[in-house]
Amino acid sequence: MARAPTVKLNSGFEMPVLGLGTFSLNPTSFLEAVKYAIDRGYRHIDTGLPYGSEKDIGVALKEKIAEGVIKREDMFITTKLWCIHHEPDKVEYGCRLALKNLGLEYIDLYLMHFPVGFILVDDETYQPKKPGSDVVTTNDVDYVDTWKAMEKLVEKGLVRSIGLSNFNAEQTERVLKICKIRPVVNEVECNVEINQSKLLKFCKDRDIILMDYCPVVRANPAKKTPACLYNDRTQAIADKYKKTPVQIALKYLVQRGTVPVPGALEKPMIDENIDIFDFKLTADEMKYLDSLNTGKRICEFEFVDKNHKYYPFNAEF
Ligand SMILES: NC(=O)c1ccc[n+]([C@@H]2O[C@H](COP(=O)([O-])OP(=O)(O)OC[C@H]3O[C@@H](n4cnc5c(N)ncnc54)[C@H](OP(=O)(O)O)[C@@H]3O)[C@@H](O)[C@H]2O)c1
Repeated sequence: MARAPTVKLNSGFEMPVLGLGTFSLNPTSFLEAVKYAIDRGYRHIDTGLPYGSEKDIGVALKEKIAEGVIKREDMFITTKLWCIHHEPDKVEYGCRLALKNLGLEYIDLYLMHFPVGFILVDDETYQPKKPGSDVVTTNDVDYVDTWKAMEKLVEKGLVRSIGLSNFNAEQTERVLKICKIRPVVNEVECNVEINQSKLLKFCKDRDIILMDYCPVVRANPAKKTPACLYNDRTQAIADKYKKTPVQIALKYLVQRGTVPVPGALEKPMIDENIDIFDFKLTADEMKYLDSLNTGKRICEFEFVDKNHKYYPFNAEF
């Protein structure tokens, strides 16, 4: 059974360097996937309110604890404060909602999902849009005020570590300037096509771990997409280590000191994605994988007005 090693966060807690992502483009249950992943050695699960997977994770954890496969403290659960709960007086409410969904007494890592706040209609309206509009109704809540409210969650023992997601360097710096409790991670889209080398250096210099979402570029081996993974050179590297192009893509990320959370529902893929800790890519291979960077994003959060003052992706990094 494969196991991911851990990395020490600036909060002092250890985080496994690979987790199971639980977002799906099609509404689905992650219950079987999470239970299987735990059986196969995964100890880190990544979720968020709008993924709809928190309750499945809660049930899976309860069952696996009852079976004696894990204890609560063996698991590292990452979830996120969604944009509808950015107002400082809504932050604890958002956190308690996640705790209730997950059936947990504490969350290991709680991230601000995105720097822009949305109006709150109800807890299930994740993208509050006016009829006929393509973009959500945002508000002007400053994410540094949201951050200060998130610090209180640590002080109350509801969460162990707090972090950011989809923050650019300047926004991260603003949080660092005002914080009492430092962000431990920034979870951003990062893979061979958008390798975030500048943001990675910025974060490393500040003892912030970069977590990678969309780490396998939403691979589809049947369709041989994306081309950066399914080509002769990447395949040759995969063949050399008796691995797949997806495993090479994940190893590249881990070897750079980042933490991928590949989403997978199928058992063979769940097995494959954690089976990357028995080989090491050479400097030349890392250089080749670096060269695949085009900066192309999959997740632009197209439902957010790009002119909003806190929209993060207009900056270079
Ligand atoms: N913070 C954020 O704003 C944010 C945004 C997006 C995602 N995330 C997190 O990051 C996680 C990963 O991102 P993602 O799921 O969008 O993209 P991803 O991990 O790059 O791709 C997931 C897709 O790749 C396929 N796949 C996974 N492992 C594979 C393998 N070994 N071989 C072939 N195909 C494989 C999966 O197939 P199947 O569908 O068949 O399993 C799924 O369709 C999410 O689940 C979520 O937890 C966070």
